[in-house]
Amino acid sequence: MKVSASFLSSKTIPLDLHKLDETDVDYIHVDIMDGKFVPNKTMPFSEMKNIYKYTSKRLEVHLMVDDPEKYIPLYAELNTEYIIIHVEIDKDIEKCLNLIKKYSIKAGLSIKPNTPVSALVPYLPFVDSILVMSVEPGAGGQEFIPESKERIHEVRALLNEYGINAVINVDGGVTDKTVVDCRECDIVTSGSYIIKSDNFQEKITSLR
Ligand code: DX5
Ligand code: ZN
Repeated sequence: MKVSASFLSSKTIPLDLHKLDETDVDYIHVDIMDGKFVPNKTMPFSEMKNIYKYTSKRLEVHLMVDDPEKYIPLYAELNTEYIIIHVEIDKDIEKCLNLIKKYSIKAGLSIKPNTPVSALVPYLPFVDSILVMSVEPGAGGQEFIPESKERIHEVRALLNEYGINAVINVDGGVTDKTVVDCRECDIVTSGSYIIKSDNFQEKITSLR
């Protein structure tokens, strides 16, 4: 199981990124919020781009924004492996996914807990990753929603049915307890469980 670490809950970002860089974590999960798609807002790109100073890990950029086209060219400049947009936005999703791929970056589609999994179907041919939200997006430190296990299973069944070779990732409330519900995933994203501990590597290992 691959592990992606979110630093959304970090109060000391440079230090925590440096500490993550010394672990075997697979990706740094970068949460971007615009104050519209979700109420909270993260720092602007001019500050966020400095992340490269503290980590050489590949990035997974989770765009919780209404208008991804504004952000994709910016985050494509960084050491980015995945850019993930939301299926719920009122935009041309296929166009956004193809824009991500134009930068030779893997394209991901995220789905909120109350959106039917069938909403993913039209975009399956264009995705490299599905990010199943196991909390309502917008904040770190929330409880894992137990129904997420079944939703991950539904996504796995859909990928099999359509013969799509995309990875499944889960995001929100993932700990050593809730990870047992995420065994059908390829990647698990975890924030506060790792960041709020005093031994990052131990927590990362417990998720694999
Ligand atoms: C929630 C974010 C998540 C979050 C994960 O809106 O997309 O990436 O930071 O953090 P935890 O693991 O604390 O739920
Ligand atoms: Zn996220």
